Amino acid sequence: MENQSMEEASLRAKELREAIAEHNYRYHTLDDPLISDHEFDRLMRELIELEKRFPGLRSDDSPTGRVGGAPRPGFTTLEHRLPMLGLDNAFDIQELRDFDSRVRRLAGLDAVDYICELKIDGLAVSLQYEEGRFIRGATRGDGFTGEEITHNLRTIRQVPLRLAEPVTLEVRGEVYISRADFEALNRERLEQEQPIFANPRNAAAGSLRQLDPRITASRPLRLFLYGLGEHNLPVTTHSDMLAYLEQLHLPVSPHRMLCRTIKEAGDFCRTWEERRSELPYEIDGVVIKVDDLLLRERLGNTARSPRWSIAFKYPPEEKSTRVRDILINVGRTGALTPVAVLEPVLISGSTVQRASLHNEDILAEKGVRIGDMVVIRKAGEIIPEIVRVLEEKRSGAEKIFEMPKHCPSCGSPVIRPPGEAARRCFNPSCPAQIVERIAHFASRRAMNIEGLGPARAALLWREGLVKNLADLYFLEEAQLEPLEGLGKKSARELVSEIKKSKSNPLHRLLFGFGIRFVGERAAQLLAGHFFKMEKLRGAGFAELTAVPEIGPEIAGALLRFFEAPQTSEMLERLNAAGVNFSEPAAKGTAGEERMLEGKSFVFSGSLERYTRNKAAELIIRRGGRVLSSVSGKLDYLVVGDKPGGKLNRARELGVTVIDEATFIELLGESG
Ligand code: IVH
Repeated sequence: MENQSMEEASLRAKELREAIAEHNYRYHTLDDPLISDHEFDRLMRELIELEKRFPGLRSDDSPTGRVGGAPRPGFTTLEHRLPMLGLDNAFDIQELRDFDSRVRRLAGLDAVDYICELKIDGLAVSLQYEEGRFIRGATRGDGFTGEEITHNLRTIRQVPLRLAEPVTLEVRGEVYISRADFEALNRERLEQEQPIFANPRNAAAGSLRQLDPRITASRPLRLFLYGLGEHNLPVTTHSDMLAYLEQLHLPVSPHRMLCRTIKEAGDFCRTWEERRSELPYEIDGVVIKVDDLLLRERLGNTARSPRWSIAFKYPPEEKSTRVRDILINVGRTGALTPVAVLEPVLISGSTVQRASLHNEDILAEKGVRIGDMVVIRKAGEIIPEIVRVLEEKRSGAEKIFEMPKHCPSCGSPVIRPPGEAARRCFNPSCPAQIVERIAHFASRRAMNIEGLGPARAALLWREGLVKNLADLYFLEEAQLEPLEGLGKKSARELVSEIKKSKSNPLHRLLFGFGIRFVGERAAQLLAGHFFKMEKLRGAGFAELTAVPEIGPEIAGALLRFFEAPQTSEMLERLNAAGVNFSEPAAKGTAGEERMLEGKSFVFSGSLERYTRNKAAELIIRRGGRVLSSVSGKLDYLVVGDKPGGKLNRARELGVTVIDEATFIELLGESG
């Protein structure tokens, strides 16, 4: 490897880029990975190393650029060669019928085919490919000029940097964030005391319009494509076009339907209106488009929108209700959070009766008063959000809520430190904080102790059984049995759940401690870097901030945590109880030796023992590669039943041809 020539290195880099692109596609677009994350990382590391050793190999379309380059001073604008138009809306089935009549009248046709697609709520973008290479991308902007965001789009794993065919085209689509990723992002931001995003759309827009592409790279952005700008693809209908994009490994939504009548299109709209909560992302309607591309040209555009398309809009998943009261919750870090108590309403399939107002500033910004009618929505899966106050419904009897000056749990004075959004109770033995800490420690994402929620945590504290986290591991069944609502069975289960949690990996424990700024992601990064509690504990400021994504705030909070005398005592007792203090190293390959390192394979015809996918997986696990076409450099052509033209080509080029039995032997799977 060390003496690799430039030429060898260049070939290998090409192979690696192709393999990485393929695995990226399988993972991020098909959701069907062939190799483990660990193996993927190894391919990536090899490419990074190669590009370091041979700087001449670096290129814009290398997947190593996905981590995001240096920040830019500002955005430049990009003129769209064809304007990016908006859509007219239809709010009911009658408006759809009107649209259809108009289309058929203008076209002079009795029947027109429509293609229906989901309308994902995100941010419209345009991507340009030149001879198969991703060269440029932009936001929609005002439809005529957008902001050039090539570097940010490059960080989205679903964007192929090189297409399978050297086509030149402009594709258009929507960048979005799934509900679950949106929630996780907001959770992390609350943890880091950064302002949260109001909805997935804002989160996607805010993440994409970043001057620092590294920030974009760290956000879980997704993409789906639904249209073309300038192109010369050999397609005559929208449905063929989507199939073609799919073939180029560009991400296209599978939820689409070709309809023969507007009634069928209306049914598609209604079906997805009912099923929208099943989708992992938010949609705000369905887009209906004339399928025939020539007919579209004949229909043309108005100033704002095409005559051949219409958006069927769903009402937002929002409801109005009354704020009965505003309470204060004292969190595990002592932060006081205002919570609105609502008159219960059913929204997106569940009853909502509370909404977090997050902090004093957000409360003030929304201007919510006790007794107000408010509009609420479920932002992600769980956190309900107050969108706005219906001021026109005020009677004058609403009460302005004042943040308390004393902790509602322990009565200590609360302080809002300069530069922070929250008022805090600084009493370390504040009961509310201790109970919240216990509940957080036991929560699903932390130590995952089933049966230990906030109510139980409060009970254990009240009974004097648990004063700090380590006490949990010294609880005995006999102590728990007599407690209210427990009994023999629950006591036994709780003790066993607590015992089970001892073997959790370090990152869960670390997250479970509830250290300020140390969210789930930071905990994972830290545990994955230091592996042992002792190593982490011994790390200084410089060592901590050297870990990617760990900033001075997190480092400072960790140092303060480990310096505190209570921490040493707690760690000693956890250790004595047998709680695991280490992180397992990333998994290696599944036992097989890398016996096929560097060898390449192509299949022709069908195998008996394995599917193609399985066979490919077995090769890759052993360090080999699977290619799709025969070239002179190929190591093996594996022929099964009814091989095709590849066999002749391999013979011509003198490639080694093997049958299935020999292949199985080569894998070491025979016998
Ligand atoms: S087609 C000329 N298809 O909705 C046709 N748009 O309200 C332009 N959108 O700006 C758009 N999903 O950001 C189209 N399947 C889809 C879409 C979609 C979401 C967005 C897009 C557009 C906006 C129009």
